[in-house]
Amino acid sequence: MTRRIAILGGTGAEGSGLAYRWAKAGEQVLIGSRDGARAAETAKQLRERIGGAAQIEGMDNASAAAACDVAVMTVPFSGAAALLKQLKSVWKPGTIVIDTTVPLAATVGGAATRTLGVWQGSAAEQTKELLPPGVSLAAALQNLGAASLAGDGPVECDVLVCSDDEKAKQVASELVGKILGARALNGGKLENARIVESLTALLIGLNMRYKVHGAGIRFTGLP
Ligand SMILES: NC(=O)c1ccc[n+]([C@@H]2O[C@H](COP(=O)([O-])OP(=O)(O)OC[C@H]3O[C@@H](n4cnc5c(N)ncnc54)[C@H](OP(=O)(O)O)[C@@H]3O)[C@@H](O)[C@H]2O)c1
Repeated sequence: MTRRIAILGGTGAEGSGLAYRWAKAGEQVLIGSRDGARAAETAKQLRERIGGAAQIEGMDNASAAAACDVAVMTVPFSGAAALLKQLKSVWKPGTIVIDTTVPLAATVGGAATRTLGVWQGSAAEQTKELLPPGVSLAAALQNLGAASLAGDGPVECDVLVCSDDEKAKQVASELVGKILGARALNGGKLENARIVESLTALLIGLNMRYKVHGAGIRFTGLP
């Protein structure tokens, strides 16, 4: 059976970039939004852009979460906890959640080059607390920017995948591998997401100082 990937907040820059890359690679994508009509419009635009038999539909976040096998969180940190509380009774057991959220201070009016302190240690560990038993989590893609995803070229980035669940780590790594030029790296335990999330603030500063939009990360010395 084909897996269905819900992208919650998929009308935004990061979510629609991921939706574009995955649908182009033949994955079945459900765009989620607070507004089903907005999601349907984004899905239509992406279908037109990809053409052919692109499988992308739009719906509200709860419908997408209920219908998917894998859900990708691409809403701002400021809205993530409320959305996860709303979805708590919606998830099917066995769903895998991939969290891309970075707790940037900019989401509450601060600087984009700083992260907020999160009591649990990271946005991903906060997400973990808000998922019901039976739903597993990987943190990934926090350092892969929307500007890189938006085009058709290779993104030329490494993507650290952090999780305490082997299946979630494997599925997230496989989906990273479907993005042209992205290499998934085993980032270890979910708690390492706190390091990965903070790197995004650093990348945003590099983008500003070097006047570019797509600073990314590559690790050397690995097989
Ligand atoms: N942008 C990047 O380059 C990048 C890179 C790596 C990771 N990320 C992470 O990806 C996430 C999304 O980033 P983005 O730049 O795409 O953000 P964004 O465009 O500001 O937001 C994405 C979508 O989230 C929904 N949303 C906004 N506020 C919300 C709220 N309070 N509650 C629920 N949904 C809300 C909106 O969709 P609707 O209005 O349709 O519901 C919006 O289109 C963030 O957590 C960010 O840290 C982004």
